[in-house]
Amino acid sequence: MDMRDDIQTVLVTEEQLKAKVADLGAQISRDYAGKDLLLVSILKGAVVFMADLMRAVTIPCSIDFMVVSSYGGTNTETTGLVKIVKDLDADLSGRDVLIVEDVLDTGVTLSNLVPMLKMRNPNSVRICAILDKPARRKTSITADYQGFEVPDAFVVGYGLDYDEKYRNLPFVGILKPEIYGGE
Ligand code: IMP
Ligand code: MG
Repeated sequence: MDMRDDIQTVLVTEEQLKAKVADLGAQISRDYAGKDLLLVSILKGAVVFMADLMRAVTIPCSIDFMVVSSYGGTNTETTGLVKIVKDLDADLSGRDVLIVEDVLDTGVTLSNLVPMLKMRNPNSVRICAILDKPARRKTSITADYQGFEVPDAFVVGYGLDYDEKYRNLPFVGILKPEIYGGE
């Protein structure tokens, strides 16, 4: 059984992802030259992007991870509230934090998280998201660095899951609706 059989449409290919990550890494390396860059990623969806992006960054940087969860909701929808399940190890004071995200969807997660991180006295907090779904946004948040705009559809691959599966697909695609019981 091949995971690819469950994909209806490929939205972003492996080659497109590689090229974009290289661009973003170069841009970040220029913008953060001489700064104390800390890449922060939210597990688990952003782990694939983090692993690629950090190797495309050519200046010294550190990495850290956190786990957040939304209260309630289903597999494909998120609720309004965010809880820190596993906090960062790093002290943020005076540092330049770049949040590395898989997808900016409703924006609820980062709208909650960014103010929490800003209270820890970092020099700056910005967002880098490989995917953006502007049609779904419920808040005014935007990414400072962004990869690809995707339509209002549930997508998997390149770290993104459905029911913890498909994270290891090397491209981003739309799951066949029958897989998640949609129409
Ligand atoms: P938010 O709606 O912007 O708060 O997004 C919260 C999180 O939901 C993202 O970081 C993803 O982990 C997850 N998510 C949002 N859209 C999708 C999707 O299409 N597929 C898989 N996970 C998603
Ligand atoms: Mg995520």
